[in-house]
Amino acid sequence: MHPTISVAVLLTVLQAAHCQKIKELSACLLGQNLRVDCRYENKTANPLTYEFSMFKDNRKRVIQTTLNVPENSLKARSNVTLSKDLLCLQLFDFTTADEGTYICELKITGDYTGNQIRNITVIKDKLEKCAGVSLLIQNTSWLLLLLLSLPLLQAVDFVSL
Ligand SMILES: *[C@@H]1O[C@H](CO)[C@@H](O)[C@H](O)[C@H]1NC(C)=O
Ligand SMILES: *[C@@H]1O[C@H](CO)[C@@H](O)[C@H](O)[C@H]1NC(C)=O
Ligand SMILES: *[C@@H]1O[C@H](CO)[C@@H](O)[C@H](O)[C@H]1NC(C)=O
Ligand SMILES: *[C@@H]1O[C@H](CO)[C@@H](O)[C@H](O)[C@H]1NC(C)=O
Repeated sequence: MHPTISVAVLLTVLQAAHCQKIKELSACLLGQNLRVDCRYENKTANPLTYEFSMFKDNRKRVIQTTLNVPENSLKARSNVTLSKDLLCLQLFDFTTADEGTYICELKITGDYTGNQIRNITVIKDKLEKCAGVSLLIQNTSWLLLLLLSLPLLQAVDFVSL
């Protein structure tokens, strides 16, 4: 691999690893359902506690949680899938009435100090469909990285000529 590419890749990896423990919070539409993906850094096998909630009209409504008591009407319409470094909330039959700020909060005792919290504003008309979205983003960032490193590559080659 060309040294410049290695450096660029290394920098990207370092930046991603250096960020907050919740690495990414994203939302998309899966059929009629809202899916909220909360990606976090999994360092150990320590137990994870989490809470998905939404904020609307100055009121916080808890959807799914291991920390507090959820609101039954929301809990009944949702589920959470837990996998390594990803918490995935699905809210069934999502409508504009469910628009608001969605919050992912998590705590892994021993791994981080304090709770990690991120939020995302969800508006139905602006949601992407789920399938392929994350792939597209990944492909785009690789493309971007390549494009960004091209001038550098040329500069390096020019100097070494
Ligand atoms: C984190 O990953 C380890 C394996 O690397 C796994 O045993 C553990 O269950 C994971 N933790 C969570 C909260 O998913
Ligand atoms: C959550 O609901 C979806 C849609 O009904 C289903 O495909 C998925 O298996 C459910 N996940 C869990 C963990 O129950
Ligand atoms: C969402 O996050 C931003 C930035 O961290 C914060 O200023 C804002 O108060 C949060 N909103 C809610 C509803 O928690
Ligand atoms: C992203 O790249 C993979 C393989 O490199 C490809 O299979 C996939 O179709 C691409 N996705 C999009 C949305 O272009």
